[in-house]
Order: sequence, then C-alpha cells, then structure tokens
Amino acid sequence: MTDRDPAASADQAAREHGLVESVVASFANCADPRLREVMSSLTRHLHAFIREVRLTEEEWRTAIRFLAEAGRLAGDEHQELVLLSDVLGASMQTVAVNNEAYEHATEATVLGPFFVTDSPGIPHGGDLAGGAAGTPCWVEGTVTDTDGSPVAGARIEVWEADEDGLYDVQYADGRVAGRAHLYSGDDGGYCFWGLKPGSYPVPHDGPVGRLLEAVGRSPQRVEHLHYMVTAPGYRTLVTQAFVEGDPQLRLGDSVFGVKDSLVKRFEDQRPGTPGPDGRELDGQAWSRVRFDVVLAPQP
Ligand code: BEZ
Ligand code: FE
Repeated sequence: MTDRDPAASADQAAREHGLVESVVASFANCADPRLREVMSSLTRHLHAFIREVRLTEEEWRTAIRFLAEAGRLAGDEHQELVLLSDVLGASMQTVAVNNEAYEHATEATVLGPFFVTDSPGIPHGGDLAGGAAGTPCWVEGTVTDTDGSPVAGARIEVWEADEDGLYDVQYADGRVAGRAHLYSGDDGGYCFWGLKPGSYPVPHDGPVGRLLEAVGRSPQRVEHLHYMVTAPGYRTLVTQAFVEGDPQLRLGDSVFGVKDSLVKRFEDQRPGTPGPDGRELDGQAWSRVRFDVVLAPQP
C-alpha cells in the first residue's frame, strides 16, 4: 500500500489491486490490440474511481439505474447518453483529443444532438430561417486555409435554434427551419441570413437534468450558431460561433463548448436600417456578424 492508497490496510489494498490485475489479465487474449488497450485502461480508471471514493453498493446501484433510465430514453429524437457525455465534458474532451490546435485554424467544439444531414441548400445571401421566429441576422465571412488562401467550394452547414430555443427537429410537425447549407465562392466568401442566436437550455427533463439540478448546475448553453465545414483535403471542422456579451459566458456553458476564439461580435442594427444586400426588413431590428473560418489541412 502506498501512502496515498485509499484502502484502509495493506492487505485490503493488495486484494483491491489483485482484482484490477485479474480483470486486466482477462483481456490478454483479445485479438484486437486497440480494444485490449482501451478495455485495460478503462478497467484501471474505473476501479481507481471506485476505490478512491470508496463507492457504496447503494451508490453503484443508483448509478446503474441512472444509466439504464438514460439508455431507455435514447432514441432518434432524444439522446440522453450523448447528453450525459456532453454535460460531463467527455464530448468536449474527445473533440480536444481529436482536433489538436493547428496554427490559427478555427477551433472545433461539440456537434450537439441537432445536426441532421439533408439540409436544404441556399445561395449566397439566402435565408436559412425557413419561417423560424427570431431576429434576422446577416452572417458573412470567408473560408481560407492557414496561409490565408481562399478555399472555394467548401460546404458550409449551419443550424440553429429559433427564438424559443427550439431546433426544427424538436417541432411536432416535421418542418425544416433554422438550417441550411451553402458553398464558399471562388474568393472563399460566403454570406446568408439567419437568426440572431438566443439562449436555451440543453434538454433537462430526464435523468441528466436531475443530475444537473442535484449538483447545482444550470442546463443553459451560451448563445451560438452551429457550423460544420467540409472541403476536400481539409480536416472537417465542427464548430460554433458564440455571441459576445451573452451573460451565460460568465456563468458557464453547460457542455463546456466555448472557446474564446469563437466568441464573435454580433452588431445589432436599429429598425429601419436596410440590410447589406438591400433587404427591406419592414422596420424590424436585425443583427450582423462576421465569422471567418480557417481550415486545417487533413492530417
Ligand atoms: C446544442 O448545442 O444544441 C447542444 C449541445 C450539446 C447538448 C445539447 C444541445
Ligand atoms: Fe445548439
């Protein structure tokens, strides 16, 4: 037993270590070396956690019940286990491990559960709101490589919640709104109309919501616009543009997705100001933001 071993005696520590080694040894004949590595490491970390906190049998049963309930809730429209990974920062840690910083390439962040393939295509200057309610927002920028050369023809997927904090996949009527894709032009430029992002909570009506409440955490996300940018020869970028000045930036993002470099200034425009493309906004207030995307090369 070392000084820091959590067991009460050397004999007890030896028994606990012996069990860890038996389980690790049970993977010795695994034909897949990666699976063997992952299972051995998982075993060591899981046992270390159980030993460190001296987990009670009742706590272990509670954890199993929690995971079973989360698993039962998992379906196409509700991904409680993904949500658990998100609020524990595990999704963001996996993003960090797999998207190492490359020069000044745009940083990656969590995908979230609301991306769907088959979004409608829009031209430059098109509107992705599709009737979703919210403050119109002009979004423009470029897609370049880390040398500053334009990346033409990059596919830019954008999706966002409406002013009530709902994504279209959460609507009951199957409408497509608040999402679209477009392609960067020859100069790498792109622009579209969307909605100024609003604040909304991650789904919190299930076991993950109860967990957040028990530990005194808010389910609220920092206001954001989702992007996925793909182009041949470049690393796929999954990211978000966050709204500068959102008070939730100080309070914390429930899924730990914010990076300082992704916080952008949304410039609110007075009612009556014509849009940059000449759009008349019927006396409505609107906003605008610039989000330049820099792609890292494919490793
Ligand atoms: C979102 O950004 O929409 C999201 C991300 C993680 C969990 C839930 C929602
Ligand atoms: Fe989101």
